[in-house]
Amino acid sequence: MKKLLKMIMAATTLCLLAAFQTAQAKDLSGQLEIFSWWAGDEGPALEALIDVYKTKNPKVEVVNATVTGGSGVNAKAVLKTRMLGGNPPDSFQVHAGQELIGTWVMADRMEDLTPMFKEQGWLDVFPEGLVKLIGTDKGIWSVPVNIHRSNVLWYIPSKLKEWGVEAPKTWDDFFKIAPMLKEKGVVPLAIAQNWTHNHLWESVALASLGAEKWNALWSGKLAFDSPEGIKAWELFGKVLEYTNDDASSLSWQQAVDMVVDGRAAFNVMGDWAAGYLSTTKKLAPVTGFGWMASPGTTGEFMFLADSFGLPKGVKNLDNAKAWLEVLGSKEGSDAFNPLKGSISARTDSDLSKYNDYAKSASADFGKDVIVGSLAHGVTANEGFMNDFASVMEMFLKTKDAKMTAKAAQQIAVKNGIGK
Ligand code: GAL
Repeated sequence: MKKLLKMIMAATTLCLLAAFQTAQAKDLSGQLEIFSWWAGDEGPALEALIDVYKTKNPKVEVVNATVTGGSGVNAKAVLKTRMLGGNPPDSFQVHAGQELIGTWVMADRMEDLTPMFKEQGWLDVFPEGLVKLIGTDKGIWSVPVNIHRSNVLWYIPSKLKEWGVEAPKTWDDFFKIAPMLKEKGVVPLAIAQNWTHNHLWESVALASLGAEKWNALWSGKLAFDSPEGIKAWELFGKVLEYTNDDASSLSWQQAVDMVVDGRAAFNVMGDWAAGYLSTTKKLAPVTGFGWMASPGTTGEFMFLADSFGLPKGVKNLDNAKAWLEVLGSKEGSDAFNPLKGSISARTDSDLSKYNDYAKSASADFGKDVIVGSLAHGVTANEGFMNDFASVMEMFLKTKDAKMTAKAAQQIAVKNGIGK
């Protein structure tokens, strides 16, 4: 009898607790400020996610604070000022990896989300390797919302047919067709403002070094100014000879537009370009636009993951937690990613909701060698990235591979790469 009573009491407590939690979830009100660089053409996927949040929390006013600029070039500077000024947004976009750990976690600015991960069962649905990238021995520091691929070459199949060329599997193949394209008045490879040079550089460096040596750069086992390191810059310099002159004034979308309009043959960009091509440009994967691993990187998947974290001292803690719960949920993930061009970070996502590009990315992610992106936060902290921007500028001005590789090694040491 005593046992039965105890059981009834326990069950009642559980029911009350559940009721309390649901009531809490329903009753959220006030504001939620989320901060990201997903504005304009990059906005639709985020808006789908906000819609899921609003359905669940109709009384919360969502302030969608965005600062335009691909790869967060402008947003990150604004975020820094706000964080250091004690005015953090309730939740902000940050890449999984060193951009999060080596920057905001190291500075002790983030809340530990381990309890949420346990409560939501996320330790079973996010890949272990990814959880490692957003965690330290002291906690888990953000909620991943996707997996993007950085090393992708984009093209329009009908245009290639018209010009009588095929998508190049290696940079040597590219150098064979590039002069011919140039003669026809077509830019062989479209490129945009400076961060897209970092983006192209990492794909070229991966092709030149291979996955093992790429990883060795970031673990400090291979010096940036080693003969292999220098060679990567030499190849990059050669590739740049076939790019457009007005790059610095273009956004990444405008470089993709050059390919769509037939002014350029190819563009190396992350698969947010698949989101742009299908969601904004309404082109169908395979027939409307084509892709392959960037030259020389077949079988290698250079990945990055967008995530959102919870800074310390936010104004709307409960609303922010509810936001993170939506981000990590299957429903949120499968609303966001099909529009974004990325695949879900969850292993249980519903692939029937995704297009042929995403299906192929998902298959590659399952079988390729996975390496981390530099340009999008995985391998290096913000300190290195800021310095790397100057190293890149030096190369663009001088085209001196040796001197640039030396400078890269100096900033690697300065920023503790491989330590
Ligand atoms: C990346 C980000 C992507 C996309 C891209 C272009 O850094 O991870 O989601 O926004 O920049 O802005």
